[in-house]
Amino acid sequence: MKTILFLVVVTVLFNCKSNIENQKTIGVITDKAMVVSARKEASEIGSAILKKGGNAFDAMVATELALAVCYPYAGNIGGGGFMVYRKNNGEIGALDYREKAPLAASTNMYLDTNGNIIPNKSTIGATAVGVPGTIAGVFEVHEKFGSLEMEEIMLPVIQLAKKGVVVTEKQEKRIRKHQSGFLRANKDSILFQKKWKKGDTIKYHALAATLERILKFGKDEFYRGESAKKLADFLQKNGGYITTEDLAKYKAKWRKPIQFTYDDLNIISMSPPSSGGVCLSQIMNGIESFDLDKYGHNTTKTIQVITEAERRAYADRSHFLGDPDFVSIPVDQLTSKAYAKERMQDFSFKKATSSSAVSHGTITLVESNETTHYSIVDQLGNAVSVTTTINGGYGSKLYCSELGFFLNNEMDDFSSKPGIPNMFGLVGAKANEIAPEKRMLSSMTPTIVEKNRNLFMVVGTPGGSTIITTVLQTILNVHEFKMGMQEAVNQPRFHHQWLPDDIKMEPNGFTKTVTNELKNLGYQIDETKAPVIGKVDAILILPNGKLEGGADPRGDDKAIGF
Ligand code: GLY
Repeated sequence: MKTILFLVVVTVLFNCKSNIENQKTIGVITDKAMVVSARKEASEIGSAILKKGGNAFDAMVATELALAVCYPYAGNIGGGGFMVYRKNNGEIGALDYREKAPLAASTNMYLDTNGNIIPNKSTIGATAVGVPGTIAGVFEVHEKFGSLEMEEIMLPVIQLAKKGVVVTEKQEKRIRKHQSGFLRANKDSILFQKKWKKGDTIKYHALAATLERILKFGKDEFYRGESAKKLADFLQKNGGYITTEDLAKYKAKWRKPIQFTYDDLNIISMSPPSSGGVCLSQIMNGIESFDLDKYGHNTTKTIQVITEAERRAYADRSHFLGDPDFVSIPVDQLTSKAYAKERMQDFSFKKATSSSAVSHGTITLVESNETTHYSIVDQLGNAVSVTTTINGGYGSKLYCSELGFFLNNEMDDFSSKPGIPNMFGLVGAKANEIAPEKRMLSSMTPTIVEKNRNLFMVVGTPGGSTIITTVLQTILNVHEFKMGMQEAVNQPRFHHQWLPDDIKMEPNGFTKTVTNELKNLGYQIDETKAPVIGKVDAILILPNGKLEGGADPRGDDKAIGF
């Protein structure tokens, strides 16, 4: 018995040690161009577009659409996203192709006559769907910055859909996990109800036909043409709100990104309706004056400082942020260094702050974590950072078999009822209440980092509310702790979001000494329920000008370039 116990202890210790220490990998290195995304097939298509002379924006269109084919879990044409870019001349900008609430939406649309949330109405099926923005987004990017013909960009994607995509082990598990959701959301049997196994090939003929029509007739096909009519009809028949008028009115919007400094870095990230850039700047402003590099990577002191800055930033997040076309947001104040200093004034290394003592205090935040990010640098030095989503895994689970894609459940990112958590635990505030044509608040944080005014890093991740803190730790791993890109991506991560008042930590990623020290200081630690925190796809410009990819081993992610 003693021997068995000894072996178990040794095995556990060995596993912990290997999870913590076996992270020093060097990523794919290329001379001048790279695409890093959630699937090999999408990175290959994006990289091939660059190789034939396309720029990062052409590759964005190709990669986004390829992910809609090969990564239906989160890649989409039935959802939306955000792109942050930096051209090789230093010009920066951002595109918002986030979904919108339909015209028929109203503040209380997910409440019953007693004012209670109607379970699942904002998460499963047609009632959960926001007006999709992805096709408007890719056409907007192509019109403004594209250099290749749309045909050259889209044909490889259409071919991929026809040829089919091989199921990976992780994908097999995901499809299996969501079977009950598919059954619940769809009246008829859908492609994904088959028991797909690793190594099978799924062919996407309906999606290929939709993409062919979009190629022939442009974005109007999706928003005003045959596809628009079919989509609105399908959603109405399934009890949804979206009409042909909603689709015809959808427009992607160019936004001014959030920009702030941290030491000698200039960080460019997504502005509202995403909370990503504002929140990231609040946290980084809060920790800037602390010597994290001296405290060391993932040590008690470092985790304390980051946690306390996160606690304070997330306390502000949902109170102040929403769609800037509908609510006025004090962005300059929230992102100022003086405000961050003031917020951190009551921080002490001696004891954890209690979240109940931190204003603004009416919001719990747990979003769904099924989104996807890709990073691109082209041979000319242009960079794009894109995060795109249908919100939940396979979105609303509602699949339009005729058009060949899943619809989002992004309406759940609104606060259905201020003060009351939705299915994902989200308790929102007035700034993010539902209104017709409003965009729902997001956490997506596509980010580009400059060092000495030169392009330094392109980074982003899925992960709902953990997106912001994952992007933060990836940047810090490189800047403060001198890691390479892949090494930075591989590191164990932690997350605090004010409420619930605990630090979520990736299991087996942190030493017992650190977790015990944190507990003794009054921090609640959640290593048991903590899911994978983020799935980063990033690119680092090395001192010799080459690119290092960081493709997250937590998924099937892949860096490809030349
Ligand atoms: N749907 C997740 C997000 O936008 O943050």
